[in-house]
Amino acid sequence: MTTSTRAKQAAEKAWPSGKRRASARARANFALIKYWGKADARLNVPAVGSISITLDALWSDTDVELDPSLAADELVLDGQRRAEQLDKVSACLDILRERAGVRTRARVVSANNFPTGAGLASSASGFAALVTAAAGALDLELTPREASIVARQGSGSAARSVFGGFVEMHAGHAPDGSDSFAEPLLAGEAWPLEVAIAVTAKGEKEVGSRSGMTRSAKSSPYYAAWVGTQDGDLAAARAAIGLRDFEALAEVAEHNCLKMHAAAMGAVPPLLYWNGATVECLNAVRQLRASGVPAFFTIDAGPQVKAICLPDARPRVEAALRAIPGVLDVLVSGLGAGAELR
Ligand code: PMV
Repeated sequence: MTTSTRAKQAAEKAWPSGKRRASARARANFALIKYWGKADARLNVPAVGSISITLDALWSDTDVELDPSLAADELVLDGQRRAEQLDKVSACLDILRERAGVRTRARVVSANNFPTGAGLASSASGFAALVTAAAGALDLELTPREASIVARQGSGSAARSVFGGFVEMHAGHAPDGSDSFAEPLLAGEAWPLEVAIAVTAKGEKEVGSRSGMTRSAKSSPYYAAWVGTQDGDLAAARAAIGLRDFEALAEVAEHNCLKMHAAAMGAVPPLLYWNGATVECLNAVRQLRASGVPAFFTIDAGPQVKAICLPDARPRVEAALRAIPGVLDVLVSGLGAGAELR
């Protein structure tokens, strides 16, 4: 019996009489070699590959309950109903419902243990947890690769949060997006880097990554150069991770981050995700490294600065970031595991 036949039989048994529920946890990840730009907006296929690390201290816990009495899907995020996010959530659920051969609507309740929508990768952990929980509730046995492909359609970076440690996302070439998935590159235990995240603003960012990417691709004169130089950066980062060469990874990751932001700043109207404290943090991390402390920075589509360091250096990096005016909080984390049912 195939997986889908089994799933359909399970579905028939469970509906329409009863509810089904599953919960999952997925952790945030951030990219050392960034994803910025889409090859296919409908399938959410990235224009470039990316390499990330998954964190153990920042997560989304998501509960999916399939309820035959619901007329439409519902989403409660951090205690509030979020109608504006429902389309993307329902689109992911629809892919899984179609596979399972059921139409039952779902109540999705999700909570992050860190600020939502502020450039801390809440969509990555959120969609990876959603897909894992929904597949569990639907009794679908997805391979991690299949889960990554579905999660990608909610948020590109979510494809990476399916896995732990160091992860590579392949942009892929297939017109149906079937080769656009993430896979593990190196276990976190093999090179246990740590991070200190300087939170410099707590509100949600003004321009989300989806519209920021579209604007950059349409109007930034630097966008083509950004895409054209990505494969070289991916190869350099892959090699550095393979050799556990911190300095080489630091150099390529900082350069890649600044190139992504240069492409965004060149958009019309320009996208500037940073505030003053962002720049101060970036300078502090550069100074620390120049003085021999193994640390480097990366910044996503928001004003927070993520400093990646060797474990012994973490207390020093954390203290340096805390001392910067405008830094509201510093979160610390090691590397974490992939998405899992709870
Ligand atoms: O997956 P999205 O749509 O949240 O976009 C992620 C974009 C960046 O965080 C800026 C880069 C990345 O690779 O995570």
